[in-house]
Amino acid sequence: NHEPEPTLRMIMFGKPGAGKGTLSARLVRKYDILSLSTGDLLRQHIAEKTEVGRTAEEIVAKGGLLPDEIMLRVVTSKLDHLHNKHWILDGFPRTLGQGQLLDAHLRNQNTPLSLIVNLDVPDEIILSRISDRWVHLPSGRVYNLSYNRPKVAGHDDETGEPLTKRPDDNPEIFARRLAQFYASTSPLLSYYSASASSAAHPGAKMVSLRGTTSDEIWPQLDRAVRLAAPGLRERLEERK
Ligand code: AP5
Repeated sequence: NHEPEPTLRMIMFGKPGAGKGTLSARLVRKYDILSLSTGDLLRQHIAEKTEVGRTAEEIVAKGGLLPDEIMLRVVTSKLDHLHNKHWILDGFPRTLGQGQLLDAHLRNQNTPLSLIVNLDVPDEIILSRISDRWVHLPSGRVYNLSYNRPKVAGHDDETGEPLTKRPDDNPEIFARRLAQFYASTSPLLSYYSASASSAAHPGAKMVSLRGTTSDEIWPQLDRAVRLAAPGLRERLEERK
């Protein structure tokens, strides 16, 4: 009479440009995991001019945060279809209010968090990355002119479509996003570090990964994920 294999239900925090998108894409390539990025979801809403997209456009362009209730709806409308899959949330929660809303939602669904990851990358490192970032909007794939160049300059590796700059990737707006991180996300981090493995998050482990490159952080992240969900299957085509 075996316990079911633990399911990976992971949230990932980090400053803008810390590498959340890059690292979660790497996990998804290696393992049978799904990732939801709220930044990507909002950019899709904006491109499709949905009601959420119309609200989000100006807020995202200015580096502000959308209201917690809207974000909960954006996330749970996707999350609730994932059932017993392994998943990662990238970019949500990012305020204390969102953390509490997510906790209440997961409690109702009886799907508790299993891993809380804090990517801790120094400010001066991320500032230099942003000016080199190019994105493929429809998929959320991210490139960097010095770190992970596209195979053909200016084009997405998989579709060949043109890459674009994010409108919020300029120095002034980036500074605002970073300030927003310190104001809103730091209290959330204290909330999780005080409550990981306690009654509020019984099975959840919290890890802080420090490093200046994703190559330093990746092996630590890989280890934490395997410990949280030992039954995770590697995708066959990936041999790394
Ligand atoms: P979002 O898209 O989540 O933006 P963010 O948190 O600012 O994070 P980024 O996407 O900028 O960075 P990342 O950590 O994913 O880094 P990446 O892997 O790309 O959100 C955008 C906006 O949406 C927010 O500002 C807000 O308005 C709104 N929003 C989203 N979620 C919300 C929420 N929950 N509540 C309210 N509002 C919300 O890496 C960065 C660059 O570095 C890339 O070019 C990459 O190639 C490069 N890179 C990565 N690793 C390395 C390395 N090791 N060495 C060199 N370069 C590297």
